[in-house]
Amino acid sequence: MNQNYEYYKEIFQDVPKPLAYVDLDVLEQNIRDIISRARDKNIRIASKSIRCVSILQKIFSASSQFQGVMCYTAKEAAFLGSRGFDDLLVAYPVWHHDEVAAACREIEKGKRIILMVDCKEHVTRVNDIATQNDIEVPLCLDIDMSTKHLGIHFGVRRSSVRTPRKALELCQHVDQLPNVYLDGVMGYEAQIAGLPDKSPANSFLINFLIRKLKKKSRRIVRSRRADIVNAIKNEGFALRFVNGGGTGSVELTSEEDVVTEVTVGSGFYSPALFDYYDNFKHLPAAGFVLEITRHPEKHIFTCHGGGYVASGSAGIDKLPQPFLPEGARLDPNEGAGEVQTPIIYRGGLTLKIGDPIIMRHAKAGELCEHFNELYLVKEGKIVDVVKTYRGEGQRFL
Ligand SMILES: Cc1ncc(COP(=O)(O)O)c(C=O)c1O
Repeated sequence: MNQNYEYYKEIFQDVPKPLAYVDLDVLEQNIRDIISRARDKNIRIASKSIRCVSILQKIFSASSQFQGVMCYTAKEAAFLGSRGFDDLLVAYPVWHHDEVAAACREIEKGKRIILMVDCKEHVTRVNDIATQNDIEVPLCLDIDMSTKHLGIHFGVRRSSVRTPRKALELCQHVDQLPNVYLDGVMGYEAQIAGLPDKSPANSFLINFLIRKLKKKSRRIVRSRRADIVNAIKNEGFALRFVNGGGTGSVELTSEEDVVTEVTVGSGFYSPALFDYYDNFKHLPAAGFVLEITRHPEKHIFTCHGGGYVASGSAGIDKLPQPFLPEGARLDPNEGAGEVQTPIIYRGGLTLKIGDPIIMRHAKAGELCEHFNELYLVKEGKIVDVVKTYRGEGQRFL
């Protein structure tokens, strides 16, 4: 693959900008690499990191190892159900009646939509709405995989279920209610899967400490997950699946015997934040293209648009990054602007007004919230233009 500046410049020369694209040759390479990292485990696709029905379909058609979607709202799961997808795990608890009811309606039509719970209130709520709809809803128990090291919280703050006793209490509560049943267990070790080993936003020392903590945390995650899953099974509860991990932990999570499937989303597009892991290197498959519209100084090329900043704790690592031409960078004083973005470039190519700058988002799926369409590129040509969720008029969060 020779995806250099001239390559994309030629492909996109006549297309109005800004535009977003997915390079299918690169995507296919990432898919192959992800499959080999997951070894024999099933891979559930995190749709929040894709946000485009056509791309989800392409990934599923690449291998039968891709099984099920990890959705981010129940309405999204219902939408994907209506578009032919099945085995839709909603990875975050939903509460509003309309959300739960949307899942119920799709379940009634024969789809499997699994709702996430981590406390009795969640379980009772889903059971009540499922009862009104006269159906049974499968549930997944979210177990907390965050760890503590010398009082430092390492991981995300989501579930309070972190012991076999607490997990069993919840399983028993599910068992007592008529319109819900336990289908699976999920534990997301965000501090390993979503935390880069050598982020440029951190000092050398902080990155060193993060790597040390990740190693320590891994051992705790592994034994906590096994203890909880084994306790649930020993109590006679059947589990159809045990889900874990994310792009940053695929090979580690796959090593665990109790895990039946790993989740991957970001690895397909491979946005800028995923450049800084020690275990793997996926390739930039998705990006956006800005047009240079001004040239205020010799080495500064100001583009129209570009302010697509990623969610999470604010920091320079959440800014989009110039990808091509190599050596282009943001101006630290302006960053990525609301309507204009100056790019500093001192390299060997001659840039002029009208030329493109190829950019990458810091995160994966959020790119699609800024564009209605993705230009699909293969072997030097645009082969299709497909709609993002936004382009289909869908906005779930
Ligand atoms: C529950 C859960 N599983 C897995 C993932 C991993 O997704 P990705 O592969 O896009 O990093 C996430 C990301 O936030 C998540 O919230």
